[in-house]
Amino acid sequence: MSHSTSSRLDSRLSLCADFVREGARLADIGTDHAFLPIWLCKTGKCPCAIASDINPEPLKRGLEAISSSGLCDRITARLSDGLSEISADETDDIVIAGMGGELIVKILSQSLLSKDSTKHFILQPMTRSEVLLEWLNGNGFEILKQDCCVAAGKCYTVLLASYTGKAGVQDRLFPYIGKLEPEKKALHRRFTEGKIKDLKNKARGSSEFSETAKLLEENLNDRCK
Ligand SMILES: C[S@@+](CC[C@H](N)C(=O)[O-])C[C@H]1O[C@@H](n2cnc3c(N)ncnc32)[C@H](O)[C@@H]1O
Repeated sequence: MSHSTSSRLDSRLSLCADFVREGARLADIGTDHAFLPIWLCKTGKCPCAIASDINPEPLKRGLEAISSSGLCDRITARLSDGLSEISADETDDIVIAGMGGELIVKILSQSLLSKDSTKHFILQPMTRSEVLLEWLNGNGFEILKQDCCVAAGKCYTVLLASYTGKAGVQDRLFPYIGKLEPEKKALHRRFTEGKIKDLKNKARGSSEFSETAKLLEENLNDRCK
């Protein structure tokens, strides 16, 4: 994360920013340096933001950056474990970025706010995106958009999800493919190839992973021929 608030966002946070609705009140969960809320308020895409973190040290870093950006009147720094201190009437779009897929699942599953269908959740798992996608699909969330980016040489995915309460798709490959279009976009293909590689590594100890790797590889080859 080699950017600063005075330069552009890196491509990972930039993709998260793209998924935020124009005029949305933002909550950035696990904000650390508060780059994203500062950027979104500075550019005028968001009128106001909550920059929250579970740990006092990163929150202090965030608060310092907010003060030096001159945006103290529009960005509130708040100590919060996940969504526990965030209420529905103060936010529209909620970003949870830079954490593992399992931690993002934990944060969403511990809060009723995640089931408010007016809210948009922008989720950027650093690892185990398949765990997050499987949970979203199995718990009434729709994936409205998904894209990929490369930051520091690694390919990541960003999801835009919202609660509908409807049953998800019954597809073994959904956690790996989601809404990606590897036949159209090179980065989506690269991300999916990474998942096949991970599955093949895990397959050394389990036939289940080896079968999923085979199915995913066949699916990718079919779509991209
Ligand atoms: C690697 S930083 C990500 C910073 C920024 N969101 C980004 O993507 O660049 C992860 C941050 O999440 C915070 N965090 C971890 N668990 C959390 C939780 N349950 N609730 C809120 N913040 C959390 C950590 O303290 C840390 O500051």
